Amino acid sequence: MEKQNIDWGSLGFGYIETSKSFVSIFENGAWDEGTLTSNHTVTMSECAGVLQYAQTVFEGLKAYTTEDGRIVAFRPDLNAARMADSSRRLEMPVFPEDRFVEAVREVVLANESWVPPYGSGATLYIRPYMFGANAVIGVKPADVYQFRILTTPVGPYFKGGARPLTLKIADYDRAAPRGTGHIKAGLNYAMSLHAIVEAHAQGFDENLYPDSATRTKVEETGGANIIFIRDNTFVTVGSPSILPSITRRSLEYVAEHYLGMKVEEREVPLTELSSFEECGLCGTAAVISPVGKIVNGSEEICFPSGMAEMGPKTKKLYDTLTGIQMGRIEAPEGWICRIK
Ligand code: PLP
Ligand code: COI
Repeated sequence: MEKQNIDWGSLGFGYIETSKSFVSIFENGAWDEGTLTSNHTVTMSECAGVLQYAQTVFEGLKAYTTEDGRIVAFRPDLNAARMADSSRRLEMPVFPEDRFVEAVREVVLANESWVPPYGSGATLYIRPYMFGANAVIGVKPADVYQFRILTTPVGPYFKGGARPLTLKIADYDRAAPRGTGHIKAGLNYAMSLHAIVEAHAQGFDENLYPDSATRTKVEETGGANIIFIRDNTFVTVGSPSILPSITRRSLEYVAEHYLGMKVEEREVPLTELSSFEECGLCGTAAVISPVGKIVNGSEEICFPSGMAEMGPKTKKLYDTLTGIQMGRIEAPEGWICRIK
């Protein structure tokens, strides 16, 4: 298969239209069989549920070319399950989980020439999403939906690759205790835009949100979970109002079973931050991005791993996880979904 003529190494995290997208319509209480389309534009009512009341959920995962030339996706079954959870919370019909995985396969195969080559540093980002497509004017769920998957080749999410980030303890709240922080809904990202534009203007890379109820505990950033290392312990945030990151859950397993670390998933008080040796953000887009500094008002927490490079244990986690994803290290059963 001839690859697209792209300078893969210089890709950032942006949208490039590829060959095909997948689309399936829910109407009269059922999903149609779905199809691939080369029409990358959506036309719908001006009064569609998504446009008026933001009834939309999404997912994000990646396809990789492995060292031996296979094309694989990383744990798409977990994205399918999480999208089902997100859909139920917004009163949307669930796109069946087995069909989700099948559609991911189909759309990646149809865009094979866009899957970046092994070693290029780029990957094919896969964005499944669903939205209420028919007109609603009273506040209620739509009854026609589109489930679509677009793909686009991407490089690093954070400019500068592995340069450690500076986070700001956000002035705003992300998720209410019994709200929607645990699902992947567009509304969580719409409300983060003002906060991120402000944070960037102040020279920060990202907002780190504290819990909304007490503002004393760490939750997550706008688009990634946060991880910490102290001695041989890997600490992650346990909270019902953060997105259950597939990368984070995978790293917990890698830390324990591949690297022999102790793993703690628990509440992390802001007062504990200064005692950690290393810190990072993790997610599909971010992979693991090291954090060098967290600024909380007038207080600066500088991690001993510094602002020049990834801390040594974060690097081990990164190398092991990406090794598994790219086929250099044997994966746990069921983690790698072969597409070709
Ligand atoms: N938290 C938020 C708010 C996110 O948007 C993402 C991105 O998907 C993550 C965490 C990381 O989740 P995952 O590792 O499943 O990509
Ligand atoms: C992802 O990591 O896939 C995400 O959806 C994060 C997003 C903010 C780009």
